[in-house]
Amino acid sequence: MTQHIGELNPPVRLMLTPGPSSVDPRVYRALAAPLVGHMDPWFKGCMDETQILLRQIFQTENRITMPLSASGSGGIEASVVNVLEEGDEAIVAVNGVFSERMYEIATRASSKVTKVEAPYGQPVDPDDIRRAGKGKKIKMIGLAQGETSTGVLTKIDGFRNVADECGALLVVDAVASLAAVPIHVDRERVDVCFSGSQKAISAPPGMSPITVSSAAEEVFRKRKTRVQSWYFDLTTAMNYWGKDRLYHHTPPISLIFALREAMRLVVEEGLETRWDRHRVNQLALIAGLQAMGLKLLVEKPSDRLPTVTAVMIPSGVDDVKLRNQLLDEFNIEIAGGFGPIKGKIWRVGLMGYSSQKPNVLLFLAALEKCLIDQGFRVSSGAGVGAAVENYAHAETAAVSR
Ligand SMILES: Cc1ncc(COP(=O)(O)O)c(C=O)c1O
Repeated sequence: MTQHIGELNPPVRLMLTPGPSSVDPRVYRALAAPLVGHMDPWFKGCMDETQILLRQIFQTENRITMPLSASGSGGIEASVVNVLEEGDEAIVAVNGVFSERMYEIATRASSKVTKVEAPYGQPVDPDDIRRAGKGKKIKMIGLAQGETSTGVLTKIDGFRNVADECGALLVVDAVASLAAVPIHVDRERVDVCFSGSQKAISAPPGMSPITVSSAAEEVFRKRKTRVQSWYFDLTTAMNYWGKDRLYHHTPPISLIFALREAMRLVVEEGLETRWDRHRVNQLALIAGLQAMGLKLLVEKPSDRLPTVTAVMIPSGVDDVKLRNQLLDEFNIEIAGGFGPIKGKIWRVGLMGYSSQKPNVLLFLAALEKCLIDQGFRVSSGAGVGAAVENYAHAETAAVSR
């Protein structure tokens, strides 16, 4: 039977999810540029430019710096399987689903991996890692700078100190934080850092930028066994992204075009301005949510990840119904909770192109309407009013700086 399939016509959503974020029109245009071959001399120049931009955003001079042809989970996989061999000891700081994923992947690379946990909504304490590593030869300490499942920010410096004491490599998941939250790979001496194209960089999903320090490269060189994954063996993948440009696999060329354009936008804006924009928009969002009587999962303001705000769902409000109403009536997508906090929180993403004042104000107004429709009492306009006031303070502070 022949079934007619219509032309692709997706709805234009405002993506206030913890990824993917909405995309700038310039990035869509780059995505639609004519395809070239991955060995075309012109494309090799485009690869150089992509790597220059990546190094600027990671703030590194690392030779191994490239976008992996994979989503953010591929970044976790590549980092862990290149560092660890069977029998190596590792510690992973786990405070949510994505850091748990790093732990899970690490246990497939070595049987000697320790999980050090913090309650959901808090970062892991580096002292707990120190205690777990005492007397052991630790090869890797891993953490998520931004734990997207809970909206928690982890500060890297304490972990770097512990890694130095243990002689371990520091692996940082910056999937939800790169280009939104300060991270300086060289200055903070992060050994392996990876991200995802679809979050604060605001390109389509499908690429995982990664960078590797010379210390980690040295460790890779001294491995006794081959990396268990052919595809994610960074040393051989770098034969294509390095000066020889030898074929490794066919990369998603159009996604590289889009990533390059998205990163040009990051660099044009400037990292510091971008970090500030994410901070200011989240503060306005939080002011609005709190004025509406809503509570946040992450209690301590300094632990809040600027890209993802975890909001406690008030009792009596139906999680899925509210999210469906936001989508159907306002074209806004937000996310629910994962794992043990499923049904308990909403996760509101303000990342990259999505992190804009008009989006914050529209979302607060839409949320108010959806809450009122479910019988939750909100004083009219309270959320938008508080956010507007917060922006006014931020603007005054910026002028007087
Ligand atoms: C912190 C973090 N790490 C890893 C991932 C996995 O990325 P992906 O879904 O692109 O594979 C995500 C995705 O949300 C994430 O937020």
